[in-house]
Amino acid sequence: MSKPRILITRRLPPAVEARAQRDYRTTLNPDDHPMNMAKLLDLALNRDALLPTLTDRLDAEVIGRLPDTVRIIATFSVGHEHIDLDAARARDIAVTNTPGVLTEATAEIALLLMLGAARRAHEGEALLRSGTWDGWAPTQLMGIQLTGKRLGILGMGRTGRAVARMARGLGMEIHYHNRRRLAADLEAGTTFHETAEDLLRVSDVLSLHCPLTPETRGFLDAERIGLLPEGAVIVNTARGPVVDDAALIAALKAGRIGAVGLDVYDGEPGLDPRYRECENAYLLPHLGSATLETRNAMGFKALDNLDAFFAGRDLPDRVA
Ligand code: DGY
Repeated sequence: MSKPRILITRRLPPAVEARAQRDYRTTLNPDDHPMNMAKLLDLALNRDALLPTLTDRLDAEVIGRLPDTVRIIATFSVGHEHIDLDAARARDIAVTNTPGVLTEATAEIALLLMLGAARRAHEGEALLRSGTWDGWAPTQLMGIQLTGKRLGILGMGRTGRAVARMARGLGMEIHYHNRRRLAADLEAGTTFHETAEDLLRVSDVLSLHCPLTPETRGFLDAERIGLLPEGAVIVNTARGPVVDDAALIAALKAGRIGAVGLDVYDGEPGLDPRYRECENAYLLPHLGSATLETRNAMGFKALDNLDAFFAGRDLPDRVA
């Protein structure tokens, strides 16, 4: 039987592309341009599978226009809000994602954002690079100490728990809210709050780890920001639209929120330009999973799902 034909929409790490090329007739994107709908549909012609990323918007229209040959979409991401799952189901196209392999890398970025935002790392670096640093001063760039502070984790899945474990090493007191309370062994000494609002009230630092759903879209609005302790630090490695940008920017500018560390934005690669005016915003360009180890693991997981599909086995990570 001839090898299935797959379209990989973005450049992937060399080991992932090499395995894909070994096992499939593969169309790659060597110059790594984000594809518009027309290009994607054009390249999907005669393909059996797509291996897209979160930069590909596979909405109902695109899915409706995919050629009949496409039987599976194995996204190179754990998030799948860029794919209309109902539209895929309606066309009997399977969809898989890559859970479980982004945990540590994303937790590391949450810690980096927490420390960087609280300790003003970006301002310090900018000062040095500008050539205007005139030496140590007792009151220069004083930040927020994390040791002994209460960390509130919204969403205690794999990544939330990894953040809790790492933050414990900083001497933080860990609180969380989750749809369901965790079993004691997973809770590991953290404090559960029945409601997200209760969690906010005790969060000197708030780290968001919930998926983007209709319920979490716009979750952190002015009212909820108002529940946080004065000068709290907010970290978002989940999804941009979980935060109401206008409300957060107003709170940052007013000093009501001490600092934010953001890795994700509503409308990526765009972001609300007013964030750039906030010195107390430490901003990274969606680097949560950006380590070679993790990106390899994501690619291999997507390929494992394709292998299972074409071998007629159950899909390890089916979401539709
Ligand atoms: C994902 O896979 O959903 C992540 O956001 C990528 O970093």
